[in-house]
Order: sequence, then C-alpha cells, then structure tokens
Amino acid sequence: MKILIAASEAFPFCKTGGLADVTGALAQVFSRTDGAEVVLFLPRYRNVGGGAFSPKAAGGSFLIPVGNRMETATMSRVQWGKVAVYFIENPKFFDRPGLYRTAQGDYEDNDERFIFFSRAVLEGAKFIGFKPDVIHCHDWQTGLVPAYLRTLYRIDSFYAKTASVFTIHNIAYQGMFPKETLLKAGFSWLDFTPDKLEYYGGVNFMKSALVFADLVTTVSPTYASEIQFRPEFGHGMEGVLRHRTADLFGILNGIDEEIWDPATDTFLERGYELKSFQRGKAACKKALQKELGLEENKDLILAGVVSRLDRQKGLDVLLRAAGDFTDKMQFVVLGAGDPGLSDAFGALAAAHPKRVAFRAAFDEALAHKIYGGSDIFVMPSRFEPCGLSQMISMRYGSLPVVTRTGGLKDTVLYNGEPKDSNGFAIDYADEGQLRSVLGHIVSLYGWRENWNMMVRNAMKGDFAWGKSAEAYLKLFNIAAQRRQL
Ligand code: ADP
Ligand code: GLC
Repeated sequence: MKILIAASEAFPFCKTGGLADVTGALAQVFSRTDGAEVVLFLPRYRNVGGGAFSPKAAGGSFLIPVGNRMETATMSRVQWGKVAVYFIENPKFFDRPGLYRTAQGDYEDNDERFIFFSRAVLEGAKFIGFKPDVIHCHDWQTGLVPAYLRTLYRIDSFYAKTASVFTIHNIAYQGMFPKETLLKAGFSWLDFTPDKLEYYGGVNFMKSALVFADLVTTVSPTYASEIQFRPEFGHGMEGVLRHRTADLFGILNGIDEEIWDPATDTFLERGYELKSFQRGKAACKKALQKELGLEENKDLILAGVVSRLDRQKGLDVLLRAAGDFTDKMQFVVLGAGDPGLSDAFGALAAAHPKRVAFRAAFDEALAHKIYGGSDIFVMPSRFEPCGLSQMISMRYGSLPVVTRTGGLKDTVLYNGEPKDSNGFAIDYADEGQLRSVLGHIVSLYGWRENWNMMVRNAMKGDFAWGKSAEAYLKLFNIAAQRRQL
C-alpha cells in the first residue's frame, strides 16, 4: 500500500506540539509494515530539524495557483529510515521564524500558505510519480487536500483511486477564513454551499476535510464522542461530525518508546527502569533541583509541567492553586505561549525561588529532565484530544494529575485505590478540585508502598504504537477499497 502523509509538522523536522510527535511516529511505524511504502510531505520552514538534516534538491520546480497569482514550489528530500520525506519549498511562505504565528498572533496569510502547501502536495506527488492509495492528512492545515481530491482533482486520472483519511488532532483550531479565500484556493462557487465548503459565509479548512475525506479519525475514543455530542468540545462541528458518525473513529495515540525511554535517555542524570526507578528518579530529581536553583530536598514533592501555555491546558487553575502548596511541594513549569500566563508563572517563581521554577521556552532537553525528575506531572486540561505528556510522564514514573476528558480519561486510571491507579484525576479544570487532589497527594506521598505501587502501574502501561497503527492501517484499507469500486 502506498501511503502519503501530509502534515504541517513532524518530529524531528519541525514541531510545536504533540501533532509533530504523532505524524513522525506514524510515518515510521507505517513504513515498517510489510508492503507499505510511505512518503511524508512537510513545508520547508526555516531551519529543518535544528540543522540536523540537509535536504537535497529533488528535481525542478512547478507552479501553484494561489488566487490569480502563480507561486513557485520547489522540493527537497531526505531519506529518513524507510520514509522518503519531501519538503515543499517557497521561502516567501515558509522561511519565517515561526510555523504558524509570531508572538503578535497568527500570520495573516495562513490561508494562502496552506492552500499553497496542500496543492503543492498533490502536484508534488505527481512530480515524483508517487500515486498514493491513501493520503493521510492531519488537522486544518491540510484540510483542503481531501476537498481538492473530490473537486478540482476529481477528473485527474492520477488520483482516480486515491482515498483520503483525515485525522483531527485538535478541533479548537479550524482554519477559518473569509469567503475570498475560496477564490484564492481555486474552488468553484458551485461548491460554496453549506453541505460542502461554506461555513457561516466563510471557508473553514477543517470542515472541508470533515465533509470530503473518505474516513475521519481523531486521537482518542472519548474525544470522538465529546466532539460529536458536546458543543463546548465540538466548536460548531458537532452537526457535521454526527452526519459522518459511521465514518468517524477514535484511535488513541501512542508514544515513541525509543525517544521516551528512561532507561536509555541521555538527557537524564541517571537512567532507570522499573526495577531501579527509586534510585534513578532520586538522582534525576536532585539534578533538576540543582540545575534550576531549587532547594535540594528529596522529601518535597516535585510537580512538573511541560506544556504549551494555552487556555486548553488549564494551567491558570494550577497557577491559582500552587501558591498554597509551596510549603510541601516544588513546581517546575516549562511552557511557551500565552504572555499573561507566562508573566504570572514568572512572578510566582520570583516570589518562591526555592520552590517554584519557571522557564518560558521550548526546550527538548529540559522536558526530558522534568519527566525524569518529577514525582507528579500536572495536566488539568479543559479539553485534551489525546495528550502525549501524560503518557510520557507515566513511562518516566511521574504520576499524572489530570482532568477526566478526552485522551486523559482514556489513559489515566484513578479510583482512589492505589493498586488500580496509575495517576490522579479530577472531573473538571477547577481550582477547588485541584487543591483537593493536591492535598490528597501530599498525604499519600508519605505512604511509600502505595505510592510506589502506583508508579509501577504507571511505568508498566502499554503506550506503544502497535495496536493503534494497526487500526489506522485497517481503516486505510477500507478507505482504499471504497475507491476501487
Ligand atoms: P499538545 O499537542 O496539545 O501541545 P501533547 O501532550 O499531545 O499536547 O504533546 C505535547 C508534546 O510537546 C510533548 O512531546 C511535550 O513534551 C512537548 N512540549 C510541549 N511544550 C513543550 C516545551 N515548552 N518544551 C519542550 N517540549 C514541549
Ligand atoms: C493536539 C492535541 C493533543 C494531542 C496531539 C497529538 O495537539 O492538543 O491532545 O495529543 O494533538 O494528537
């Protein structure tokens, strides 16, 4: 089976969040399946993989219409294991400091950037003669690909048998633009109807995918249900999703168990596995406390956060609760995003320099050290399509403290019985509930046997991609078969 993955980010080439971890991992996992051939298309942003890769030019250039202009696309390529990675190049669109935005907000031409990318993927695949059985698209940035396949490219024999599968990673970001975007994308006004491309008088890239993709998936079973039946989760897409309920599947993400392995993690002060976690984690905790200038005290519970600073993550709730726990706990927060939240965490750290450390950055190395050195990992999300951080923290023996939503609900088990629990959960991102569970954690921490039992449960969890990758491949086959008819 020939699989083309189109995405706006993939680790280790470009990353702003979990989307990149997932697209990168899936490309690798699919490519190791018998009979699968995988190509991954990405935009060529500034500084691919921090300079660790040197993509080589791949052939000539081709023109992509954007409105009434023609924009030039060139391609470059790296071989990444069995995956051929193609970068779509156009410096005007992609050679910028950020992937989607600056601190001031989204790039104003994001519609043009991802129209260009989506069409260039379809033209690029032809250019290299890769005729996919399935195109797997991710989030709104590639939402127009399924729509192009069923409109402008419907009569293109190259794609006559190509199916599309669209994965929703976060429905809170939809790519909504005014109706002029329709012309920039080259669609016909005939398709500008509410059952196709129109969305409240404008164009919505995610909705276009939900309408036109052969199958739709999202990244956990609970989120699949939340977005269909609960407006506060569906962000206006509930109706469209329910219309496609028979074609919508929730497949839980995995984590890359090679990248996230406390036994071999070179960022850690000392590696550890299930048998040796107590000594290993103690060494990692001490090193983390030292690096961040915190009090080096093994008896204080160290609470870690590695996150985008965004309303989604509920960290404003942690911020309000944390001040009351600085006598028994330490907080280490690594997070980039919302400037208000960033200032507030900075102020909390300044007020309690030995108990709270805050780093406003995207820092791969420090992230690993926090997963390794923390006792608990706080993630009180308002919604969470899947969440990878809670799975990573469990693998590193740091007990997640989460809300019962989306993938958090599907992965963190907490019923008050240590033997059946691998973390802690509250119902909502609510300050009172968070205070109460943190209070419980403070008392439980003294009961080392129970605590260690939970750590073991967490570390024993199966977070590998195996089962989920199989589920995707099954769906790819179904989608491809439908196109053969
Ligand atoms: P989301 O995709 O919503 O941001 P996930 O939990 O799915 O949340 O994935 C987040 C990924 O990004 C994890 O790999 C996490 O370690 C990483 N990450 C988030 N913020 C940072 C940061 N400031 N520095 C380093 N890594 C980060
Ligand atoms: C999104 C979601 C997150 C999910 C990730 C990967 O960024 O916010 O919950 O884990 O995508 O699917």
